[in-house]
Amino acid sequence: MSKVVWKGGALSAPLPPVMVTCSDGEKDNIITIAWTGIVNTVPPKTYISVRPSRHSYDMIKNSGEFAINLTPAPLIKSADYCGIYTGSKVDKFEKCGLTKTAASQIGAPLIEECPLALECRVTDIIPLGSHHMFLADIVAVDVDESLLGGDGKLHLEKAGLAAFAHGEYFELGKKIGNFGFSVKKKKKNYNKNK
Ligand SMILES: Cc1cc2nc3c(=O)[nH]c(=O)nc-3n(C[C@H](O)[C@H](O)[C@H](O)COP(=O)(O)O)c2cc1C
Repeated sequence: MSKVVWKGGALSAPLPPVMVTCSDGEKDNIITIAWTGIVNTVPPKTYISVRPSRHSYDMIKNSGEFAINLTPAPLIKSADYCGIYTGSKVDKFEKCGLTKTAASQIGAPLIEECPLALECRVTDIIPLGSHHMFLADIVAVDVDESLLGGDGKLHLEKAGLAAFAHGEYFELGKKIGNFGFSVKKKKKNYNKNK
């Protein structure tokens, strides 16, 4: 395979186009974020990188809280809208017809239509250049009951989540493996020759 080498750039995929909710106590807002991920397991920590020019930036900085709402494919148009228009001019909940629901640990609302949300409390703000990284503890996870099996196990594949890759949106599709399946030993079938 022959490769061309470009100068360093912010190019990774797929990324989750999440809808981050935040509040200043009076007004609530939604900002779409792709620069996000998990950075630690115990304690559970995440980050979002936000340009200081965003209306949401001060809301998150001053409140020290935000929620990451995972975007299912049917809501991708809303996610795109929340990533184009600013909350300083429009009420994105109203424009997108999204429903606010109370979080358990933070003041910012969650988006009822999103199947899973992470309630986050900011621990550090790291200026990186164009963006500042809000490093945060995940203080609660809100899961739609429809994603839980009888055994209480989370079936995230049922959520039909959207992905963002180099400016385009996709819906997660075919399952191609499980965690650890590459090293899993096959079960011996003792009844095979009986
Ligand atoms: C798919 C997508 C991903 C985005 N990711 C980020 C991001 O990671 N960080 C950021 O600061 N802005 C990001 N944006 C841009 C903001 O969402 C956009 O500027 C938004 O209008 C800001 O809203 P606000 O002014 O109400 O805070 C993204 C936009 C889209 C459509």
